Amino acid sequence: MTIKSVLRLGDPRLLRTADAVTEFNTPILDKLIEDMLDTMQAVDGAGLAAPQIGVGLRVVVFGFETNTRYPESRPIPETLIINPRITPLGGEMVDGWEGCLSVPGMRGMVCRYNQIEYHGFTPAGEPIEVVAEGFHARIVQHECDHLDGIIYTHRLTDPTLFGFTEEVLTG
Ligand code: NI
Repeated sequence: MTIKSVLRLGDPRLLRTADAVTEFNTPILDKLIEDMLDTMQAVDGAGLAAPQIGVGLRVVVFGFETNTRYPESRPIPETLIINPRITPLGGEMVDGWEGCLSVPGMRGMVCRYNQIEYHGFTPAGEPIEVVAEGFHARIVQHECDHLDGIIYTHRLTDPTLFGFTEEVLTG
């Protein structure tokens, strides 16, 4: 079990565009996946992208039964996607609070597509295609942004709707 440290906002590695995975079932990819799952669980994250642990590959993981950081959220199946792509469905956009393991203690209001379809590959290289909406869709969009060097703070709906979790969610 390896828990990696999560890079924080300001680290230039978070701003890079990650490379596509070209080989499946390799020891390097298997180790990356294991590290990402261990790290996400250890810090009770809702999702994690490989660049957040300093690996510039297009791999994201998300999902939980229950999550102390988002206690009101319904369960989201634990999903690992390699080379994900997102297609918005319907075009409806919704505002919602987001946090990020790379921006600890903070939340910000971000506008996202309410419904998406996402495509990608399982660790074994099998194609996957899933329709998601609401918070599930939001997490996928947030994690995939990390692969393009985009942090949610780049997408704030309104700079005044950003602050420490305890202040913005209770104040
Ligand atoms: Ni994040």
